[in-house]
Amino acid sequence: MGKTDSFYQQSFISIDQIQSLTQVEDLFAKAELMKEMVENKTVYEPLLGYCVAILFYQPSTRTFSSFSTAARRLGAYTTAIHGMEEYSSVSKGETLPDTIRSIYQTTGADVIVLRHPDDDSSEVAAKFSPVPVVNAGSGKREHPTQALLDLFTIQQNLGRMDNLHVVMVGDMLYGRTIKSLAKLLTVVGKKNKVTFVAPDELKTPKALVLELTKRGMKVQETTDLTEVISSADVLYMTRVQKEWFEAANKIDEYERLKLKYILTQKLVKQMKKDAIVMHPLPRVGEIEEVVDIDIRAKYFVQMRSGLYVRMALLESILLG
Ligand code: NCD
Repeated sequence: MGKTDSFYQQSFISIDQIQSLTQVEDLFAKAELMKEMVENKTVYEPLLGYCVAILFYQPSTRTFSSFSTAARRLGAYTTAIHGMEEYSSVSKGETLPDTIRSIYQTTGADVIVLRHPDDDSSEVAAKFSPVPVVNAGSGKREHPTQALLDLFTIQQNLGRMDNLHVVMVGDMLYGRTIKSLAKLLTVVGKKNKVTFVAPDELKTPKALVLELTKRGMKVQETTDLTEVISSADVLYMTRVQKEWFEAANKIDEYERLKLKYILTQKLVKQMKKDAIVMHPLPRVGEIEEVVDIDIRAKYFVQMRSGLYVRMALLESILLG
């Protein structure tokens, strides 16, 4: 696709940058090739000589390991720093713009991958970065690469990206993955429908519901999972985001809400035979471990999609 690739030399800040099905299909075609090569242990190093800097200001297992591995499998040098909030000069009061410019200078990075607790962190970073920035999770607002890997998982397992009833459960207020995924679903299918299941305290922000509706999506909200579980094609569980309750001094509320929805074996039995269960992980009690062996549980293979999609994305950004 070369330099006409829509991701080429662009920052990837928001899922709103994905505006057509073709964009997704092109990226997923690349991700499929990456999958094949990883599975066959094919050495493919188009990014030899390039450098990918990865800066994480929040905890991560999957996103961090898959981004750094994606870069290295493609042959790039990586400078991957975890615990930025604690161990970098940020703890001395350095601003994000200065850190971004410093990392660019010290590493010669060609792209900077950033996870940060501020909603607008990736936008700010992109403004000051001489090279593209990739959002690996920004505050409560966005997690665009997670949305792409989630959709890739759906496509791989259900064979379609339209005509889906996606039931999202848990923390719709603070969770960022569901926000990016819901928006992406409006782009790839006119007949996709989303149901948000959350306690009143953790309801989906009104602005997002309005935006989805404006884009023509059917959106439903409920507090009762049992009411909708049997019609789900995708059951997308999420954890209640403890860190934001801590920040707001509301830990009692967290304790009260954290296990409001638990996916039990009994509940899974009510699901369609060909539905799938997803979770961005980490899970902290909201999916019973016995569910793991159910054929519909896809939250472990879902993670692997992250490697393929992030490889595809890094290649698209750097080489087109
Ligand atoms: C998610 C995140 O960081 O937003 N994790 C992930 O990247 N897979 C979900 C979460 O932390 O609950």
